Amino acid sequence: MTAVRKVVFPVAGLGTRMLPATRVLPKEMLPVVDKPIIQYALEEAAEAGAEQFIFITGRGKSIIEDHFDRAFELFQTLEEKQKRTALEQLTYDTPAPGKVIFTRQQEPRGLGHAVWCARHLVRDEPFGVILVDDLIQSERPCMAQLADVHARTGGSVVAVMEVPEEQTSRYGIVNPGRRDGDLVEVRGLVEKPDPSDAPSRLAVIGRYVLTPQVFDHLSRHQTGAGGEIQLTDAMESLIGRQPFHGLSFEGRRFDCGDKLGYLEAIVALASSRDELAEGMQDILRRYGAR
Ligand code: G1P
Repeated sequence: MTAVRKVVFPVAGLGTRMLPATRVLPKEMLPVVDKPIIQYALEEAAEAGAEQFIFITGRGKSIIEDHFDRAFELFQTLEEKQKRTALEQLTYDTPAPGKVIFTRQQEPRGLGHAVWCARHLVRDEPFGVILVDDLIQSERPCMAQLADVHARTGGSVVAVMEVPEEQTSRYGIVNPGRRDGDLVEVRGLVEKPDPSDAPSRLAVIGRYVLTPQVFDHLSRHQTGAGGEIQLTDAMESLIGRQPFHGLSFEGRRFDCGDKLGYLEAIVALASSRDELAEGMQDILRRYGAR
């Protein structure tokens, strides 16, 4: 079974929920503690064994490319000042030459269209997709958990999580079949259904391992919910042609595209860092006491 060597990051979205912070700064560059959100996503993919990181960007997102470049002035200054720890961190954080690839989604036509923009880069092999807004804190990287399932089944697999009934209209929702531990067979998928039409409360979270057959459907450019080309519809077309599972992943997911989700991510990630945990708890106590 092939490993997941390529991961696609669709990052062309406008980030309207985080205005005015995102007027100029791409939402993916907002820091959670001291790292931009996008970097958590890249690290997750790298820790899962990915070797190529494909970013689908858009206008105003060039700073993401700069972020992953080797800032040689910075390296030089840190070397001169002998700031060894910072230098080591910077070296660790900078992807090796040729590992990051950027292409643009030239029109906002939906998530399915963004993924389709990567077709010539992905070519004929299974690949991962990470929606950067969904930051996941876990023992084992969520993408690695999905890659394990793909290695076992050979098919497609998405991360899933139960959501409150009134929130089904925010997610792709699974029509679940047979359950086997933390795996559920996916019998159908609906993009953002009203609670009354939702086949379950099991929502797709922004982590996917897909087979290249998904491009067959995406190439037809059929629009779905909200008039957009939906990844959910293309995934639905795979059901019955290959194994398709949802994985109730181990870990906590934060919706960083939402103000409170973003703040919770900061609190959770700061609390999990040795040097910040105590100070963070102090702050929380102070505000909790109000
Ligand atoms: C996208 C997908 C949706 C999925 C969600 C997860 O929606 O279209 O199926 O459940 O991400 O975060 P978006 O949040 O981009 O509207």
